[in-house]
Amino acid sequence: MKIAILGMGKIGSGVYEFVSNNPNLEVKRTLDLKVWMDNMTTDIDDIVNDPEIEAVVETMGGLEPARTYALKCLNAKKHYITANKLLVSEAMKELKDAADKSGAAFLFSASCGGGIPVLKCLHDQALSDDIVEFGGILNGTTNYMLDRIETDSMTYEDALKEAQSLGYAEADPTSDVDGLDAQRKLILGLAVGFGAYVKGEDIPVNGIRNIRPIDIAYFKEKGVSPRLIASCKKDGEAISADVCVHLFKSNASESAIKKNVNYAYYVGKQSGHFSFSGQGAGKYPTAANVISDLMRIISGAKHMLPNGLKDVSEIASGEYRYYVRISEEKAFLIESFAETALHKDDWAIIETKPINHKTLLNTLNATGESFFARMHK
Ligand code: HSE
Repeated sequence: MKIAILGMGKIGSGVYEFVSNNPNLEVKRTLDLKVWMDNMTTDIDDIVNDPEIEAVVETMGGLEPARTYALKCLNAKKHYITANKLLVSEAMKELKDAADKSGAAFLFSASCGGGIPVLKCLHDQALSDDIVEFGGILNGTTNYMLDRIETDSMTYEDALKEAQSLGYAEADPTSDVDGLDAQRKLILGLAVGFGAYVKGEDIPVNGIRNIRPIDIAYFKEKGVSPRLIASCKKDGEAISADVCVHLFKSNASESAIKKNVNYAYYVGKQSGHFSFSGQGAGKYPTAANVISDLMRIISGAKHMLPNGLKDVSEIASGEYRYYVRISEEKAFLIESFAETALHKDDWAIIETKPINHKTLLNTLNATGESFFARMHK
């Protein structure tokens, strides 16, 4: 099958290398911002109008022009494979419609979990069982940072710089540290697993931006490890979903996930719990997931999204206990939720009674530097 690759950065060049060694595939054109190799173009129409190109791989990232290119390719009956979670989380419905109309395939395994095959397994599992949970450690950058901060007492700033230099972070790392990258991957899992389309604005999210040495010292004393978790559950028609730091005891699977490794799980109502861990980012793992989508298309695969995606905006929120660090002067805001409180430097450190994530988020939003994390029993 002759293909084109849009975006010849790290992942795109990994796909190119894999294709060079695959007798079933051939790269006919590539597209980038400037022409710097043979058969490269800057004009998408050179690809859209080439009848020999059957499939297009997009590894550019960003919403535009990726969305416009995807629609052009799908409308021209070209199979579309993308590693772009922002694109899929924002535009999956129109892309699926375009694919369904033209008969082209639309697959995006590498958009969640990098090299981990969680989305395609989730898709397969959803064909035979009712999926009731999905989630995990879906962002490598923040896991790398939390591990370095916790294990090696590195500062937040140095850990972020290191994660960026290793190529784990997004171009704008605020989407990693604020939990938005994990939230986008959760949106893909909600769609593939539950058949629900949930917008980012409806999923409560708080990331690791405000974590400080005082929090880490408290966690070490309590024997718990912080991990950024994106998770969703289905209970009948009710769906809950959120992204926040959870505190795990040392015997939990999540505590053993170090560096940039991802850990993803799903639960089938009848088939039970499945989990995957592996490289959630990086050139070759992500490129391998793209190649496997291409090979599945050759075998006849068409899509990963169920028909009739349902818009869901009512997201339920369970009640959990939280660790909260808040300035002494603002501590009165959550006094009524406090179960225990201690005071250190100018901070109040509070363990709350069971409380709703959204309520806590709304209460703390006004307090700048505060940090919170969900406690497990
Ligand atoms: N920035 C992302 C991460 C890259 O750290 O997980 C892979 O999606």
